[in-house]
Amino acid sequence: MRYSLRQLQIFEAVARHLSYTRAAEELHLTQPAVFAQIKQLEEVIGLPLLERIGKQLHLTAVGREVLATSRETLEALERLEMRLADMQGLKRGRLRVAIVTTAKYLIPRLLGEFCVKYPGIEASLIVTNREKLLARIAANEDDLAILGAPPEGMEVVATPIADNPLVVLARHDHPLVGKKKIPPARVAAEPFILREKGSGTRLATERYFADLGFTLKVRMELGSNEAIKQVIAGGLGISVLSRHTLTLEGERGLIQPLDVQGFPLRRMWYVAYPKGKHLSAVAEAFLDHLLKAELFKCPGEATP
Ligand code: PGA
Repeated sequence: MRYSLRQLQIFEAVARHLSYTRAAEELHLTQPAVFAQIKQLEEVIGLPLLERIGKQLHLTAVGREVLATSRETLEALERLEMRLADMQGLKRGRLRVAIVTTAKYLIPRLLGEFCVKYPGIEASLIVTNREKLLARIAANEDDLAILGAPPEGMEVVATPIADNPLVVLARHDHPLVGKKKIPPARVAAEPFILREKGSGTRLATERYFADLGFTLKVRMELGSNEAIKQVIAGGLGISVLSRHTLTLEGERGLIQPLDVQGFPLRRMWYVAYPKGKHLSAVAEAFLDHLLKAELFKCPGEATP
């Protein structure tokens, strides 16, 4: 064969992202190295695989053919690796976990513990929002996914693993801090900081207030829980976030949960994978680790 498996792997990443830069980031290579590999592959094949129209990279017809075969080949090899890893028990193997942004307060610690227990396992963790995670589940890109509510309209196996209460957060000197049973209408009248579209936290928050007939006064949208906390601390408004986002600061810090009627919103963390998927021995072991872990029951939060 005149081209290498590595070249096919690099080409698959470039074709998936339609970007040399994003493929390079994913593969931990430099952009010029990725570009050079694709050029070499094109030279060996004798035809261009990609073409740039305006600023956008497109696959050529030949590129689409090569992509289809690259995927089949890489998937077959991955299945082989999985079978070999299963045969060797948990001595080695790969584990790919994808989690929603907010689960990063919980899962990395557990993944860390798991990797200490099984040092031969190569683990990767993707952190993204709910919408993107659902697309990853649909494309069967990971061994396990962790998210805030089971996907709707998708055939998955979803197991609840922990509470995920959503609370209203305000700066410590906000006039509503310390008030009891604040009506949701009062909260809806405050300037609100919301997560980005596609976030599960945002979806749950908007649904709750919409069901009561309130539209939130959105002051700002941000794609990060930590950035939202900073903006609350800066006095720009209030927000609804998972109580787990306070894990490090505690609940008596610069930002504090408010006592709002109907809150905390009850959510759970679920571990999910497409129905019918064969879990590797490593994925089974991690699932077991999650189910057995002393998981984050928030004080006073009974699971519904
Ligand atoms: P998010 O998901 O991080 O995308 O907001 C959290 C959730 O679904 O509860």
